[in-house]
This record gives sequence, C-alpha cells and structure tokens, in this order.
Amino acid sequence: MARADAAVGDIAINPIPVMPPEDSSPSTEDRIREAIARPHNMGEMTDADAVGTVGSPECGDMVRMWLKFREKDGQKLIDRASFQSFGCQTAIAVASVATELLAGKTLDEAMAMDATALSRPLGPLPPMKIHCGQMVEGALREALEAEKGTPAAAPSAPGNAGDTLIGSFAAAQAPLKQGGRIRVVKHENS
Ligand code: FES
Repeated sequence: MARADAAVGDIAINPIPVMPPEDSSPSTEDRIREAIARPHNMGEMTDADAVGTVGSPECGDMVRMWLKFREKDGQKLIDRASFQSFGCQTAIAVASVATELLAGKTLDEAMAMDATALSRPLGPLPPMKIHCGQMVEGALREALEAEKGTPAAAPSAPGNAGDTLIGSFAAAQAPLKQGGRIRVVKHENS
C-alpha cells in the first residue's frame, strides 16, 4: 500500500498538512464599519406618509424613521424608508440595512420584523449593541402604528423631562405630518 510518508531512497517524504480554508467573510464589526462609512437612505423624507421617533434616556440617542407607502394589488406596501440617527454609529448601521430590507414589505411583514431581523445583514450584534437595533425597531413600530392609527406602547410627550437631547430635539422640530411624538425606549437590561 502507498504511504504518503514513505521513504524514497534516503529522503523521507512527509505529507503536506492540509489547512482548513480561512473564513474570509467579513465580521459583524467590518459590516458595521462599512454601513457607517456608506449609509443608505439616511436623511429626512419630506414626502413621507408616516414617521416614528424613539429616544433612549440611558444612552441619550434618538432614531427617527420615515416611511413612504404605495399600493400594489390592493395591498399597502412600504415603497421606501429613510432614517436619521442622533448619536449612535451602530444605530446608523442597523437603520441603513433595515431601510433596505423594508422596501417592498407589507405593513404586517414590517411589523413582524424585530431588531434581529432588521440587523441580520450585519450579523449578530454584540450584546452591548443589541439596544441600538431595538431603537431602530422602535422607530419602525412607531411609524407603522402611526400609519395604522393604533396607539403605540408607552408613548411620551415630546420634550420628555430628564432627557435634554430628546427635549431639545423635540423643541427644534417642526410639527410632524404624522406620529409627531417621541417614544422613550428603555434599555431592556436596565
Ligand atoms: Fe443607544 Fe446605540 S447606544 S442607540
């Protein structure tokens, strides 16, 4: 039987170790960096049909999402989505990929998307950053609930006391077409 390490004359031939292929797919950190460097759909949508805003007293960040709808086969779909994030880079990355994912979704399909689904193209978020995805989810839900006319959970008035960023942001904003309120999102682990 042939042996890979058989000696040929006085020369021993050792088998060449086969290395497992390196995983060349980008890490979550790489994808977040890329999304931050080239965010998609960032900025106010002046002809939006719905808008949702959330703020976090814990981190002081805010995320706002605008949605534009269209009808297709008697169903309302999200035609496009845009966002602004005030303060948090990871929220920018999640919102960027989320707004891409939302195009073409029905309202029910969009409502079923949680932070994990909205951030999936980035890979699993580090535990400390899961909250950033939940902020994007919260802004989306606020906009969808405003469109459906259903009351959002635990809404708070603009200018929530104790959060100067939220207060100053609300004061600086012109009245919104819809969903003109800011929902305060608490960190789940706080
Ligand atoms: Fe609060 Fe990212 S740390 S949204």
